[in-house]
Amino acid sequence: MTNHHHPVVVGGVELPGNLFLAPVAGYSDAAFRSVCVDEGADLCYTEMVSAEALTRGSGKTTELMARAENETRYAIQLFGSKPEVLSRAAAMVLPYGPALVDLNCGCPVPKIIKSGAGSALVRNPGLVREIVAAMAAVLGPAGVPVTVKIRSGWDEGSRNFMDVAAAAVEGGAAAVTLHARTRAMGYSGTAAWPEIGRLAAALAVPVFGSGDVFSGEAARRMLEETGCAGVMVARGAMGNPFIFREARALLEGKSAPVVDVAHRAATARRHLLLSARFLGERTACVEFRKQFCSYTKGTAAGAALRADAVRSSTVEEFEALIGRWVAAAAG
Ligand SMILES: Cc1cc2nc3c(=O)[nH]c(=O)nc-3n(C[C@H](O)[C@H](O)[C@H](O)COP(=O)(O)O)c2cc1C
Repeated sequence: MTNHHHPVVVGGVELPGNLFLAPVAGYSDAAFRSVCVDEGADLCYTEMVSAEALTRGSGKTTELMARAENETRYAIQLFGSKPEVLSRAAAMVLPYGPALVDLNCGCPVPKIIKSGAGSALVRNPGLVREIVAAMAAVLGPAGVPVTVKIRSGWDEGSRNFMDVAAAAVEGGAAAVTLHARTRAMGYSGTAAWPEIGRLAAALAVPVFGSGDVFSGEAARRMLEETGCAGVMVARGAMGNPFIFREARALLEGKSAPVVDVAHRAATARRHLLLSARFLGERTACVEFRKQFCSYTKGTAAGAALRADAVRSSTVEEFEALIGRWVAAAAG
């Protein structure tokens, strides 16, 4: 049986496998990435980091690049719209030792678009080429590839992902991720996987697919149907980092492992404790409310637990909730 879980070479860098945690603002921090690595993610992306803020010396911004001990490699994602700023930001992220640095060309948030960054860039392939070239001039000599993450286009009338991706590759991008939705779609509708397939067939560099991978089986299907080199998971990993374990097993031709409540709860607890270490107890607990809700979605007693979770502010309170979750599952 063919093993569809295989290494991917990006630029000169070999990634050990093809299952990635996507950049997800508000979620893909060091604690969550650490948990995803434990569960089998081959590479995790940081939340998007503002090149402008970084070059202005914002301490909050550098916090986004903290790395967990088990994260032997990670990708840093930058956003911005000015080649010279992204070039300076690229130089500033080098000491963090990223395996690759990604340029965000997909964020649909109005504030980001107004600054010309995120998905605004898909309207300007020439600028994408220029930014990537400016980043590659700094990162290339250090052996760090530049990659880009794009959307299908600005709106239905301009699904120009082929042009944007081609411009990025001309600028020196070593891989392209396509979130196969337009900016206008936001996160609604269905990701157009056939577009990922078309891009993968057209580009000489690896193409990663993003959009609607909510199960290990969906990850397997995306690889098979589109021929993409790797799969990114965003919403499907929230409260469910186990999706990587499941996807790995299926790609290796094994059956999906059963993830019992004890393991889910232990993982949630580890996530919380790591988060407290990185962010401090108070911030971590506020952040963990949404995570806890995701972990307990669809479980027995989940609704009652979530009602209490949104009022919990200490590790002790969350540990009690996790205990109740396990006890409720045991009946
Ligand atoms: C809350 C949230 C935050 C996101 N933040 C980022 C980000 O910082 N950078 C980025 O390139 N994409 C970001 N995305 C997009 C995801 O990486 C991904 O492309 C998209 O959600 C589609 O994949 P999914 O169906 O697996 O969620 C974000 C998505 C969500 C839902």
